[in-house]
Formats: sequence, structure tokens, C-alpha cells
Amino acid sequence: MKILQLLSIGQALLVALFLGVTSSSAAEKQAETIDELVAMFDDAKCMECHEETHNEWKSSWHSRAVVSSLKGMHNFIAIGLKKEWNTPLTKAQIMKCLDCHAPTVKYASEKLAVEIGNMIVTAHKMKGTAEGDKAKKELAKLNVGCLSCHNIKAGAVARGLHGEPIPGMIYGPQGEDADDAHETEELVDITRASFCMQCHGKYKAADGETIQCNTLSGSYQNTYIAQGGSKTCQDCHMKTGHTFPGGHDLDIVKEGLGLQVEIISYGHLPGTLKKKLKEEKKWIPSAVVNVFIENKTGHRVPDG
Ligand code: HEC
Ligand code: HEC
Ligand code: HEC
Ligand code: HEC
Ligand code: HEC
Repeated sequence: MKILQLLSIGQALLVALFLGVTSSSAAEKQAETIDELVAMFDDAKCMECHEETHNEWKSSWHSRAVVSSLKGMHNFIAIGLKKEWNTPLTKAQIMKCLDCHAPTVKYASEKLAVEIGNMIVTAHKMKGTAEGDKAKKELAKLNVGCLSCHNIKAGAVARGLHGEPIPGMIYGPQGEDADDAHETEELVDITRASFCMQCHGKYKAADGETIQCNTLSGSYQNTYIAQGGSKTCQDCHMKTGHTFPGGHDLDIVKEGLGLQVEIISYGHLPGTLKKKLKEEKKWIPSAVVNVFIENKTGHRVPDG
């Protein structure tokens, strides 16, 4: 009897816990349209006070992380899922790309996520038509934005420790007081290489599938750090703030390649000696050129 009572108390507690969990996740807002999603994570309003950072970010690849990768995503959806694996397009499938290319889509409803997937197909397949251009224009609103990094992904490397991000909270390197502008919380995780590596490396989807657009993080960890390298991704890639230069930027590409040229000059007398003795001897000035190319980046070059 006592045991039974205890059990039922335990069950009641469990039920209460369960209800608590489900009601709080049900309360989590899910966007039904792209504009609703954009409003939930509105980067435009950051511009009012962080104009320079916003302009830098705008010029970076992070600001167009969906529209610059349409072909690959089209192939994943229209060829991979549809033709090769005969798998329906769901939010879980599209997140295998967008969790890194547009993290806000995590907060889209199932219906909207699938709609976004279909828009990606339309934007690529009907490129140049009014319908294709319209889809692309909508998709351009999705990217790796301010809040993708300063909220959604800020503590994601240690989700167990930090829990889910607080809506509206800005996680930053110092937790600098922003007066009434917004709440700020210091999170050193964002200054570490592991923060970048969650997207610039191997990815494990919810169903266990691994996905990888590049292997940069692998060579950063196994070659650069293993050989005593001590710089973080941020040290090298955020020297100019939020522009995040990479392989598309000639200045940083030049910086990444050390060029050392060694020239040894010598004289050269062509032809056999016998023949030469008869004719006028002619020394030809020659040189040996040794070129040493050094990789000064924190990983393989080129990537991909
Ligand atoms: C772990 C995070 C992550 C996931 C998941 C991911 N990507 Fe990427 N993707 C990246 C990063 C980071 C880059 C930039 C790589 C670089 O420039 O070195 C990239 C680059 C690309 C590019 C090249 C873009 C260009 O400008 O050249 C394409 C295409 C692409 N991804 C498609 C996809 C598709 C399709 C999926 C889903 C099947 C996907 N990605 C899943 C992180 C990811
Ligand atoms: C790809 C991820 C990423 C995106 C996108 C991003 N940030 Fe940051 N931001 C960082 C990181 C990492 C730091 C910390 C750099 C450090 O101190 O090592 C930082 C630092 C900052 C800081 C404090 C230091 C400084 O540079 O003034 C501000 C303010 C800031 N970000 C604002 C923004 C705004 C506004 C946007 C959107 C326009 C944005 N960030 C987009 C990653 C990002
Ligand atoms: C009304 C002005 C205002 C707006 C709007 C605003 N910020 Fe700030 N923010 C500040 C001030 C002031 C600070 C503190 C001083 C500084 O670092 O510039 C700050 C600091 C920060 C920091 C640094 C936190 C740290 O750890 O030191 C980040 C990151 C940041 N803001 C991101 C954002 C993002 C992302 C948005 C848009 C969602 C945004 N801010 C909108 C005024 C604003
Ligand atoms: C939410 C995922 C995400 C995070 C976090 C992230 N990135 Fe990216 N990054 C991307 C994607 C996706 C692209 C590719 C955009 C494209 O080409 O379409 C990219 C592009 C870049 C590029 C440009 C590559 C090129 O080919 O020119 C650089 C450099 C870069 N990221 C560095 C960083 C650094 C450094 C950090 C950490 C401070 C970081 N990123 C954090 C997703 C992310
Ligand atoms: C010691 C400095 C240094 C460190 C540390 C470093 N990088 Fe780089 N990275 C560079 C330079 C320089 C380039 C340009 C060379 C090139 O792409 O040819 C580059 C290129 C890139 C590119 C563009 C690759 C391409 O092929 O387009 C990405 C993305 C990138 N780095 C991300 C990262 C990430 C993520 C980390 C941390 C895990 C990191 N980097 C660590 C210096 C560094």
C-alpha cells in the first residue's frame, strides 16, 4: 500500500514534470511565415546602434549563406532526398543544411520549413524567371545573422551546461552593459574556436547522419593545434571585425601563403668541350630558382 502510494505520488510528479515540459515547448513561438521568422530575430534593428558592425557583416559571406548555396541545396532536396533516397522533405531534413546556413529556421513551423525547402528548389530551377527571382528574394532574408551567432549558436557547443538561449538575450564576449538597449550576458564560448567549428566542421544531424561542407576544423585541430598553433579562428578572421574574410578575399589569401624565393646563379657552357674549344667559348648566364610556399593559415589551403 505504502509502495503503491509512493508510486502514485511519483507518477503524479512525473506527469506534472511532463506537462511542464510540454506546455513550455508548446509556448515556444513557431513562425508561420518568413517575415514572422525575420521579425523574431530582427537584425535590422541592431543597425541603429551597431551600424559599422552591421555593414561589415553585410559584406561577409555569412549575410548570404542561403542564396549563395542554392545549387547545392537544390541538389540535396530535389535529387538526393526526392530521387535517390525517396525521402519526403521535412523540417528535420532541411535542418541538415539550414542549421548552419540559416539557424533561425529552427524556430519555423514544420509547414514553413518545408515551404522554405520548396522555395530553394524553385529559386534554383526557375532562375531568371519571375517566380524564381521572387523565391530567391524571400530566401535572401535567411542567413547567418547577428542573432544566429549572438543568441542561437552562442552557447550551443555546451548546450548541456548553458541550456537553451534566452529569447532576446545578447550573448557576447564581455557582457558589456548596453544600458536599456538590450540585455547582455558574457559567454566566453563565443571567443573560442569551438564556436566557429560547430558550423565549420563535421555536423551530426538529429537522426545521426553526418554532414560536412568542408574539413577545415579537422585540419585546424589535427594539424595546426597539434603542431603548437595557438591562434583561434577569431584571432585570424576577425582582425577586421565582422567581414570574415576567407578564400574569396585576396588580401587574406596572400597573408596565408608565405613565399620565399631562393635564386642561385651560375654560368653554363653549352655543347661538348671538344667542339667548344674550336669555336668561341660562350658562357650562358643561368640560375636555379627554388620557391618555398609556406602555409601560414590555421588549416589546409585550399579548402574544399
Ligand atoms: C556543420 C554546418 C553545415 C551544414 C550542416 C551544412 N553546411 Fe554547407 N557550408 C557550411 C560552411 C561553414 C560553408 C562554408 C565553407 C567554406 O567556405 O570553407 C558551407 C558551404 C556550402 C556551399 C558552398 C557555398 C559557396 O559559397 O561556395 C554549399 C553549396 C553548401 N554549403 C551546401 C550545403 C547543403 C546542401 C547542406 C545540407 C545537405 C549543407 N551545406 C549543410 C556549413 C554547413
Ligand atoms: C558568425 C558569427 C557572428 C555573426 C554573424 C555576428 N557576430 Fe558579432 N561577434 C562574433 C564573435 C565571435 C565576437 C567576439 C569576437 C572576440 O572578441 O573574439 C563578436 C563580437 C561582437 C561585438 C562586441 C565586440 C565588437 O566587435 O564590437 C558586437 C557589438 C557584435 N559582435 C555585434 C554584432 C552584430 C550587430 C551583428 C550583426 C550585424 C553580429 N555581431 C554578427 C560573432 C558573430
Ligand atoms: C539602442 C542601441 C542598441 C541596439 C538597438 C542594439 N545594441 Fe547591442 N549594444 C549597445 C550598447 C550601448 C552596447 C555596449 C557598448 C558596446 O559594446 O558597444 C552593446 C553591446 C553589444 C554587444 C557586446 C556584448 C558584450 O559581450 O560585450 C553585442 C554582441 C551586441 N550589442 C549585439 C547586438 C545585436 C545582435 C543587436 C540587434 C539584435 C543589438 N546589439 C542592438 C546598443 C545597442
Ligand atoms: C551558424 C553557423 C556558422 C557559424 C557559427 C560560423 N560560421 Fe562562418 N560560415 C557559415 C556558412 C554557412 C558560411 C558559408 C556562406 C556561403 O558561402 O554561402 C560561412 C562562411 C565563412 C567564411 C567565408 C568563407 C569564404 O569562402 O570566403 C569565413 C572566413 C567564416 N565563415 C569564418 C567563421 C568564423 C571565424 C567563425 C567563428 C567566429 C564562423 N565563421 C562562425 C556558417 C557559420
Ligand atoms: C593562423 C591564422 C588562421 C587561423 C587560426 C584560422 N584561419 Fe582560416 N584562413 C586563414 C587564412 C590566411 C585564410 C585564407 C587562405 C585561403 O583560403 O587561401 C583562411 C581561409 C579560411 C576560410 C576560407 C576557405 C576557402 O577555401 O575558401 C574559412 C572558411 C576559414 N579560414 C575558417 C576558419 C575557421 C573556422 C578557423 C578555426 C577553426 C580558422 N579558419 C582558423 C587564416 C587562419
